[in-house]
Amino acid sequence: MSFFSSHSIPSHIESEIQHRAAASGTLNCYIYDTAPMREKIAHLVQIMPKGLEVFYAMKANPHPAFLKAALDANAVGIEIASLGEATKAVEAGFTANRLIYTGPGKSPEELTWSVENGVRTVHIESLVEAHRLNEICRKNGKNMDVLLRINANFDIHDAQTTFSGGSKKFGIDEEKLDDALPQILALTHLNFRGLHVFAASGVLDVGDLLKNCELVFDLTKKIEKTYSNVKCDIIDFGGGFGVDYLETGEDFNPQAYADGLAAMITDYGFEGRHFVLELGRYLAADSGYFCTEILDIKESRGKKQVICAGGINHFRRPAALSINHPLGIIRTSADKIFDGQIAVKNEKVYFGGPLCTSADKLANDVFIEKADIGDIAVFGLAGAYGLTMSNQEFLSHARPEEVVLDSKEFDS
Ligand SMILES: Cc1ncc(COP(=O)(O)O)c(C=O)c1O
Repeated sequence: MSFFSSHSIPSHIESEIQHRAAASGTLNCYIYDTAPMREKIAHLVQIMPKGLEVFYAMKANPHPAFLKAALDANAVGIEIASLGEATKAVEAGFTANRLIYTGPGKSPEELTWSVENGVRTVHIESLVEAHRLNEICRKNGKNMDVLLRINANFDIHDAQTTFSGGSKKFGIDEEKLDDALPQILALTHLNFRGLHVFAASGVLDVGDLLKNCELVFDLTKKIEKTYSNVKCDIIDFGGGFGVDYLETGEDFNPQAYADGLAAMITDYGFEGRHFVLELGRYLAADSGYFCTEILDIKESRGKKQVICAGGINHFRRPAALSINHPLGIIRTSADKIFDGQIAVKNEKVYFGGPLCTSADKLANDVFIEKADIGDIAVFGLAGAYGLTMSNQEFLSHARPEEVVLDSKEFDS
């Protein structure tokens, strides 16, 4: 049995890897078991304050198994950011009125699809988009519920990725609201329903995300005071719940978030409104493992270089964010290639893939007890932003298989 430093590789995942490693061919695949995602959604639905709706941000993992997990676990719907995502969500069983459409640069075709099919809300990212959508609605003789995405004047400094504060391509700057909001309110085919303010992604500190909620609530009050005919009936906080990639032992605490938000809703007198979370990473990360065979181990100027079958073409996230994911080694006792081959033993090493770029890094300075050629490197927390944000076409390696395990089989 191999262990990550704080998360163990579940035994059914390990058995599947061993089984596949014993078969012929080079192992390089994702293994998914969506049980953790289902449990997380069900838990959030149970603990979150009344009026809060949990959506799955499918950009984290658009595989049908993840969409099915969201459907089965009663997520209210899916946050989409392209027509491709819309199509996949509908194929998975979500009706268009369960889709909320966010993201800058929605094309006229994408907006037309949204109007014709009746998505739940379109989240306006600019004045151009508001006018474009209004015109499409007019031509179709329809109205559309919209939220206004705001690039708030604050950010969360420590977050892995920030979406507001400073000059951003997301939403309309908070300072421009006095000019923009009256224009949007005047567009007769748009029904203004509220605000969308997504501060940051990958946040582990509940206090930081609650601070975002508080600032959004303040903004809501300010807007409603300035425009007596406006009610922000829906407030969308975006995504952002983090996962403990660095294995600090400090996971995001959803109960603390739920309690803090419930108290804030009461304090502001915001009962009866709708609140939206569009979560990606937190829901999907621990439902996936990237498993790749070690093809070569060599020593280069004092450090071992471990070369795997898949690199950033299949799992780009560690390189993109300069972090190591939890990593475990499944030992296979593969036959030796030649007597002089070296192995890894109690040392810090580099893991890379087969691509012809030094950017092809899977992990660096990671301490490994034992690894041999033929063993399988297993990267945990790879269910979110794994294959979907990788450079799949670079060097034209085959696409890794995505293996879906039926978690029920392993319940007993
Ligand atoms: C508009 C929007 N909503 C939700 C998400 C999901 O964020 P996270 O994975 O941090 O929950 C993203 C991520 O980029 C996003 O852009």
